[in-house]
Formats: sequence, structure tokens, C-alpha cells
Amino acid sequence: MNEVKHRIYWDKSAKIYDGIIQEELNGFKKEAWEKILQARIAEDRPLQILDVGTGPGFFTIILSQMGHHVTALDFSEDMISSAKKNADSAGVKPQFIHVTSDTSFNPENTFDIIISRNVTWTLHQPEKVYSDWYRWLKKDGKLIIFDANWNISLANKIHGEIYQRDIKKAIQLGFPQYDEEELFSEGDEIAKHLPLTFAMRPEWDRAILFQLGFHNIQIEQDFDDLIYSKAEKIAYRSIPSFSIVGTK
Ligand SMILES: C[S@@+](CC[C@H](N)C(=O)[O-])C[C@H]1O[C@@H](n2cnc3c(N)ncnc32)[C@H](O)[C@@H]1O
Repeated sequence: MNEVKHRIYWDKSAKIYDGIIQEELNGFKKEAWEKILQARIAEDRPLQILDVGTGPGFFTIILSQMGHHVTALDFSEDMISSAKKNADSAGVKPQFIHVTSDTSFNPENTFDIIISRNVTWTLHQPEKVYSDWYRWLKKDGKLIIFDANWNISLANKIHGEIYQRDIKKAIQLGFPQYDEEELFSEGDEIAKHLPLTFAMRPEWDRAILFQLGFHNIQIEQDFDDLIYSKAEKIAYRSIPSFSIVGTK
């Protein structure tokens, strides 16, 4: 799958993601994520932060409101438009950059923090991207990744059955049902060709980050109770979120 097709997929997903981010910005999740981010950033001074794959801008908005200088990057034009609109409504002014393979974005030794949520799993060349992020960080800068094994049901049949059972239970508790079968099938088709669909994470990340030179790599996996509604806790209990923090 080439980059253009992949970008079009994320353009088409921007509306659904925007709905999810509106809910996060306007409910208990915003404060929960502020605490989770602050615990990992662990500094009070304003920092230069790069939010890679910002989507509709959730991290970018809350990090800007926490006083940081945020650069938000995405290769989907529709995601960037949605993030700009959300930042305007929130009254913050981060810098937005729409990147494509033709854009030269290579800011060596620039950021105190590089952060991403639910982005690594989507990458075609995750090792190359992690090595770019290493170069873009200042010395002693921190990489903060949030993700989960979102596609484990494609790689493992038993997991798939457990996940489908949990989703049915979650729907009874109000988990949203989207009428987007075609888009979701397209997402599954893309995921079948992504390397990390078949990787053991976060162990895979730890090994690669260590090889790249990151130190003090810390993995946590105990925060789903803080960020999920009752229905989401059931839906995603077989796919726990994890965070990885590594220092350059
Ligand atoms: C699952 S969404 C997550 C959005 C956001 N981080 C969040 O948690 O709400 C993945 C995002 O990564 C972006 N993305 C995927 N691959 C990318 C790449 N190579 N460069 C920049 N953005 C990318 C997509 O366009 C999409 O906005």
C-alpha cells in the first residue's frame, strides 16, 4: 500500500476521530490524560513538544493549555484541518505541519519531548520513524509513546473471538456502534500489511528503542481504568494500552 492510499484512508477517518476527540475534550478524559501526561513529562517549565500524528489534535490542545510550545504533525490534510479547528475553539495556537513524503521535515536536535498516541501501530516503517524521532530529540529529550496492540485480532484468531464477544457486551453498556463497515474493512485490509500487526508490543518497541540508543526506557500498562468509560473498559480489556518513555 502506498503512502497516498494510506493518507486517503486517514482523511476518510477524520470525521469519526473528530467525534471521539470532542468527547475526550468535553468529559472526564481530558483531566485524566493531563495527569497521565504530566506524570511522564515530569517537568514544570514550558517545553518544545512535537505531537506526531496529532489527528484532530487532542494531545496538542491539552499540552498547549499546559503551557508548552507544541508542533503538531500529520500526513492527513483532513486531520490537520480538524485539529486546527479544535485548537481555535480551545483558544490555543500550536504550530501545525502537514507532512507528505515530498515535505522535508528533518529538525535535528530540536525537541524536548516527542509524543504520539495510537500512531506507531499504523506505520509502514516503524524502525525508521523511531530513528528519525531519536535524531529530532535534543540530548536528554524524552520520547513518550502511547499505543496498544489494536490489530491483535487480525493476527490471532482466539483473540479475535474474545474481542468480538467483549464488543457485544460493551454495546449493551452504550459502546458506540458505527455505521462505517466499508471504512473499517479498508482499515483491516491496510492493517494486514502493517509490520506491527504481527509484533509483540511493547516488547518490540523496547528492543528497537534500546538499539537506537534510548536509555531509561520505562513501560507502564496500568492506566486504562483512568481513561475509559465503563463500556470501553469491557470493549478493550483484551487490548490494554501501554505507555513507553525513553530518554535520548
Ligand atoms: C489513530 S490516529 C491517532 C490520532 C491522535 N494521535 C489521537 O490519539 O487522537 C493516527 C494518526 O496518525 C496519522 N499518521 C499515520 N501515519 C503517519 C505518518 N507517517 N506521518 C504523519 N502522520 C501519520 C494519521 O493521519 C492519523 O491522524
